[in-house]
Amino acid sequence: MRIDRWVSQATDLSRKQVHAALKEGRISVNNGAVTSPAFPVRADDVVSLDGENIKAAGARYFMLHKPAGYLCATTDAHHPTVLDLLDEPNRHGLQIVGRLDLDTTGLLLITDDGRWNHRVTSPKRECAKTYLATLAEPLVDTAEEQFRQGILLRNETHPTRPATVETLPNNQCRVTISEGRYHQVKRMLGAVNNRVIALHRERIGNISLDPTLTEGSYRPLTTEEISSI
Ligand code: URA
Repeated sequence: MRIDRWVSQATDLSRKQVHAALKEGRISVNNGAVTSPAFPVRADDVVSLDGENIKAAGARYFMLHKPAGYLCATTDAHHPTVLDLLDEPNRHGLQIVGRLDLDTTGLLLITDDGRWNHRVTSPKRECAKTYLATLAEPLVDTAEEQFRQGILLRNETHPTRPATVETLPNNQCRVTISEGRYHQVKRMLGAVNNRVIALHRERIGNISLDPTLTEGSYRPLTTEEISSI
């Protein structure tokens, strides 16, 4: 991996700050100062910053219980972002795995493993996502069949993939989809003449939101959870 990426993943420094440190001769590989940002770091190289050895970053995987009001973005001028909830070094190296709307709560996965992120979000993988929706109106009887058949959403050319919807008490329903179109659950429920008042993601593939996580808290994924995707 390039030295600038390697150091920025392993420390709190941004790529820009690493470039400055390289220019200033503060970064060494195997005791030799390195100035080129593209210098290749190999698995057994010893990298140091200001004379202190740096430990290589391992891939990180987290589940967060997203509260409403936090944006799924790395930075934003108007709202706090989900990354603000993480007390982790090198937060800028983390990626949000599939987005939730500002007002949606529940399971959000965060990683710095780009290939794993792709495995979860790639439409080809058809990874199932389950949501609990609170509705403005009782769900119509035909919704189950319409979701199963696929719904042609406004301004789209292809119907949605087969999905399930289960009616629950108190105007709630549980929806499982295997795509990630823009506002998909809200639009599908809108297409059956309803309106979502609250939306909460419960599950992605085999990973369920840990019931011990309160809103805004997070934990690392277990090895089993990571390899279940
Ligand atoms: N579908 C939506 O409409 N919103 C979300 O946040 C996630 C899925």
